[in-house]
Amino acid sequence: MTTDMSNVIPSDREFELFQQLIEKKLGIFLPLQKKALLSNRLWKRLIACDIKGFEEYYRYIQSPQGTGELSLALELITTNETYFFREQKHFDYLRDEMLPKLKPGSNFRVWSAAASTGEEPYSIAMLLSERCTNPWELLCSDVNRKVIEQAKVGIYPEMRIKNIPPEYLRRFCRKGIGPREGHIRVNAELRQSVQFFTLNLHEEFPDLGQFDLVFLRNVLIYFENDNKTKILERIAATLKPNGILFVGHSESLHGISSRFVPVKPAIYRLGAQ
Ligand SMILES: C[S@@+](CC[C@H](N)C(=O)[O-])C[C@H]1O[C@@H](n2cnc3c(N)ncnc32)[C@H](O)[C@@H]1O
Repeated sequence: MTTDMSNVIPSDREFELFQQLIEKKLGIFLPLQKKALLSNRLWKRLIACDIKGFEEYYRYIQSPQGTGELSLALELITTNETYFFREQKHFDYLRDEMLPKLKPGSNFRVWSAAASTGEEPYSIAMLLSERCTNPWELLCSDVNRKVIEQAKVGIYPEMRIKNIPPEYLRRFCRKGIGPREGHIRVNAELRQSVQFFTLNLHEEFPDLGQFDLVFLRNVLIYFENDNKTKILERIAATLKPNGILFVGHSESLHGISSRFVPVKPAIYRLGAQ
């Protein structure tokens, strides 16, 4: 089928079916204004499956034969925008306020919980490699399997690396040659210092142990308040006493969770229960 479906927009009823499915699976609520987004992200899948309308596609991804396609559709819905050293103030806080105060010999554990394609965890890993004298562990997860696979590979176009300080570029990145010209690759040592896995924040977490610091940045905005509260309860349970939580600078926990005490904009400390 070659029909151009780029203008196909789901009806309100079709949109509602996807809205409910996405909320059930990911906890993400897509308001009606996001109809065009749904269409832009999924129409190529309708063509690939030779399906003519959104309702038929919805029935297919709900059927036992459509489980692989359902994962693909959910991956396409998530917004993965990210970049190296995004929101520098968090990295300054980690470097200047947290690392100098670590108890000698204690294991410093960090979790990047909506890590997208890896720029966030690799920024953390660069800083920890350079500055952290304690043993450290860095876990990195996302609901989207594809972005986690990309993160593991660690290849990025040069135009996306402008925030990486030059000394980190020299120390942790290799310039691509031949077919990889115009790209850098994070070196093997840094890649191996990060543990990658998929995890849906909307579901119960496996036992991950306890963390000193969790990055939960630019993901809460996609959830409704009830789901935000539940996610923050689960995150609180993974933090060590006085553990620190970073959220995106446009996100606030005010009225959402009383488990955290504000420290600085977008930085919270786990409060006593
Ligand atoms: C905008 S990116 C933020 C990436 C990074 N934290 C940053 O601030 O640059 C949001 C990420 O949240 C992930 N995400 C969305 N829903 C999720 C869920 N239910 N569980 C885990 N990750 C989720 C998306 O796949 C996406 O990679």
